[in-house]
Amino acid sequence: MANKISIIKGNCLELMKTLDDESIDLIVTDPPYNLSKDYGNGTDSLTKDEYLDFSYNWLKEAKRLLKPTGTLYVFMGVRYISYIYSILDCDLSLVFNSWITWAYTQGIGKTKGFSPRHDDILMFTKSDEFTFNLDDIRIPQKYYRSVNNMRGANPGNVWEFSHIHYCQTSRQNHPTQKPEALFERMILASSNSGDMVLDPFCGSGTSMRVCQQTNRNGIGMEINPDYIKQINNRLALPFNGFDSIDERMTRIPNDLKDENIRKEYVNNHINWFLKNHPEAKNKFLQSVAEKYSPTLITKHILDN
Ligand SMILES: C[S@@+](CC[C@H](N)C(=O)[O-])C[C@H]1O[C@@H](n2cnc3c(N)ncnc32)[C@H](O)[C@@H]1O
Repeated sequence: MANKISIIKGNCLELMKTLDDESIDLIVTDPPYNLSKDYGNGTDSLTKDEYLDFSYNWLKEAKRLLKPTGTLYVFMGVRYISYIYSILDCDLSLVFNSWITWAYTQGIGKTKGFSPRHDDILMFTKSDEFTFNLDDIRIPQKYYRSVNNMRGANPGNVWEFSHIHYCQTSRQNHPTQKPEALFERMILASSNSGDMVLDPFCGSGTSMRVCQQTNRNGIGMEINPDYIKQINNRLALPFNGFDSIDERMTRIPNDLKDENIRKEYVNNHINWFLKNHPEAKNKFLQSVAEKYSPTLITKHILDN
C-alpha cells in the first residue's frame, strides 16, 4: 500500500495534542534555535525563559506521542543544546543514545570568537528497546579485509554535509533548509517501511520528502502557510535522488584485489550505498576506474 504524507498547518503545540498517545514510531525534527531567524512569524525570537518553556512543552508532547519503541532526534544549535539535553534527560527521563555533530565548511563569520561550523542532533529513545537498522545506513569501508564487514561501516557521529546552496535546483525559499541526506540517515536507521514519522517543525518539508521517498508515513506540521504551499509543491516533484550525499558513499575500498570479489562488491555497492542517489553512480564508477581499472566499468556493471 502507498505511504501517506499529511501536511498540517498550525502551531504544533496545539496540533500535537490532537494525536493519540504512543502513535508515532519516530520524531525527527529541526525546531527554531531561537537565533532570530526570519520564519515570518517571530517564533525564533523568544526570551530565554519563553524559549525554554516552549521547548519543554513540545518535548513533553513528543514523549507522550512516541511508541515505547520510538526514537526522537532533535536538531539544535550550541546556544541552547545543553538546556534541551537537560529537558530530555532530567525532566523527561528519555534514554540518551547519541550526540551527532553535523559539520559543514561554510557559515557566518565571527570577528570575536570562533566561527560556528556545526549544528548538533540529539538522539534519545523512549526505552532500551528501539529500532536501529544499521545495515541501511552503513558507509563503504576504506579497506577490503576479510575481517571487515564488507556490508559497510557505521557512519559514526560526525556527519559532514554542505548546506543546500542557493544555486542548487532543490533549494527552497526557506532560511534554514537542511540537506535531505541528514534526514535520510536518521529515518532509515530509526524507522521501518510503513512506520509513522512526525516532524512538528517541518519548514520547507525536507523530512517529509525523505519519508515520501523511503516508504514511511509522515505527519509534518508547520505554522507558516507560505511554507505549507512550498512543501506541497516539493512533494509533487518527480524524484531523481536526494539532494545531498555523504561523500564517503562514493569511495571504493582499497585492496579489493580479487577480481571476482571486486565485481560483486561494485554491484552491491550501487544497490546498498547509492540506492537513493542515482546521480552519484557515475562518480562512484569513476573512483572504481581510477583505483582499479577502467575495464571494470563494463556494460554488465552499468546495467545493474
Ligand atoms: C528550523 S526550521 C525547519 C527547517 C526544516 N528542517 C527544513 O529542512 O526546511 C523551523 C520551522 O518551524 C516553524 N515553526 C516555528 N514555530 C512553530 C510552531 N509552534 N509550530 C509549527 N511550526 C513552527 C518555522 O516556521 C520554521 O519553518
